[in-house]
Amino acid sequence: MIQESSEDRHPFLKGLSKHRGAPPTVVVIFGASGDLTARKLVPAIFNLGIDNLLPGEFHLIGYGRKPIEDEAFREMMDAAIEEFSRRPLNKEIWERVRQNMTYHAGGYDEAEAFASLAARINKIEADLGRDMQRMFYISTPPSVFEPIIKNIGSSGMAQAHVHTKLASKVVVEKPFGHDLESARDLNKAINGVFEEPQVYRIDHYLGKETVQDLLVQRFGNSIFEPLWNREYIDCVQITVAESLGVGSRGGYYDSSGALRDMIQNHTMQLVALTAMEPPVSLDPESIRDEKVKVIRAIQPLELKAGGGDVVRARYTNGLVKGEPVKGYLEESGIPKDSTTETYAAMRLAINNWRWQGVPFYIRSGKRMARRASEIAIQFKRPPGILFSEGDKFNVAANTMVISIQPDEGVTIVMNSKIPGLETRTQPVKMHFRYSTTFGSNTPEAYERLILDAMVGDSTLFIRGDETEASWKLVTPVLKHWEACGEHGLQDYAAGSWGPLASERLLWERRHQWRRSG
Ligand code: NDP
Ligand code: BG6
Repeated sequence: MIQESSEDRHPFLKGLSKHRGAPPTVVVIFGASGDLTARKLVPAIFNLGIDNLLPGEFHLIGYGRKPIEDEAFREMMDAAIEEFSRRPLNKEIWERVRQNMTYHAGGYDEAEAFASLAARINKIEADLGRDMQRMFYISTPPSVFEPIIKNIGSSGMAQAHVHTKLASKVVVEKPFGHDLESARDLNKAINGVFEEPQVYRIDHYLGKETVQDLLVQRFGNSIFEPLWNREYIDCVQITVAESLGVGSRGGYYDSSGALRDMIQNHTMQLVALTAMEPPVSLDPESIRDEKVKVIRAIQPLELKAGGGDVVRARYTNGLVKGEPVKGYLEESGIPKDSTTETYAAMRLAINNWRWQGVPFYIRSGKRMARRASEIAIQFKRPPGILFSEGDKFNVAANTMVISIQPDEGVTIVMNSKIPGLETRTQPVKMHFRYSTTFGSNTPEAYERLILDAMVGDSTLFIRGDETEASWKLVTPVLKHWEACGEHGLQDYAAGSWGPLASERLLWERRHQWRRSG
């Protein structure tokens, strides 16, 4: 019998990538001593190694201002794998990643440090005797995004290799700007150095399995698409609720708020995928064209101090899962006179053939009753002719709920006869659960996104015009709130489903928020 060696099980060990064929790659992470690198990026790279999805020649260089020795950096990453990896340590695979991992100390605006980084990459290539794709992952606070990009450009590292044509890439973390103008400036700075196909703007929601499945649910089934329009749909409700507060990220969060942190990016992506037209193909540009089109069709929001299409609020102290928690103003790093919102809700009108007259309600908040992200498509009620008499007939609007997290799946709410000798009705639920059908150990969003960036598939990344379209919609809201200060900022108790004022957005159109989860 032929013994299967560990190299057969993991061809990555002998320098082969079996599946999606990323070219030999050097990944440089800027801000590599930070939280995201330890919690998400390096564990994702390790898990790609386990799945044999890393290129045979793979190097990782951490970059940052702090002077860290190579071995000390490796030890930091050992601890990160131990604590944050989706799957337990596989020593052989990790050792293979680890031995090609180094750290390069330098400032983000120091030209000489970038020149020596370029020399280091050239040396790796010379030692290997081949060109490598360079992938620059910017995982620093946004204040240094632009100097990093400029220095990558001026050190010559953004250029493609002359013979092999292997191009460089840049992956940019959120937040992508803080309003329309700054997003445009950032796009300009990036496009001054990289061509758009080299740019990968991250929105980690697009890496979530359930978000990717949205396109399959919509366009891989024939039963939903005929109903997916204003003839049959009464409203759409998108909730991205977190039970956590701002934790140790008070400084960042207070300069951001729910609208910038969650609505402009993650929630707007869910709107776009739910509402877009069928793309002509699955290639990245076709999908992104449709997303941009639908975001542009969203009407400017009506802004009034005590009404209109938007609501903002901030949590006060309360109980989350039975535990007392502080209010936002008592959290560490939050100024006492802060007017930052921790909850935002909006009523969107999409002015196109498919959606005219169908409100899209979206909300996102911290310290809400529980963690629940979902898209609920509420269909119109059937004509109330047959099952309408008295309390015998409890008829609910049919609803399709796509649950993004934590209980990933799809639920359809329909009405059914209660067994018995007389006809009584009750809403019932049909469930599809990912964990039951496929098991629960699905790849993390960052695994998919890092792999896609390495192989050059930009479908799950945000294009420059897409981010600007979304900022164009929310920037007037930010300006309005800034002008209003405290005025109009609502309170909600931590552990609740948000402020009463957000119910008004729906009541005005004879709707009400679904109880999520
Ligand atoms: P950190 O605050 O941990 O910063 C990362 C690194 O950047 C630090 O280790 C530090 O390295 C450097 N840095 C920190 N502050 C500054 C500063 N003011 N000026 C220049 N450099 C600085 O960030 P995260 O790792 O949490 O996040 C990185 C990026 O990813 C951010 O853009 C964030 O918005 C985004 N992101 C993070 C998520 C998370 O869960 N952490 C989730 C989604 C997005 P050194 O001092 O060595 O230079
Ligand atoms: C990040 C936000 O982009 O997304 C955080 O900055 C938020 O404030 C996080 O907590 C939520 O992501 P997830 O994947 O836990 O829903």
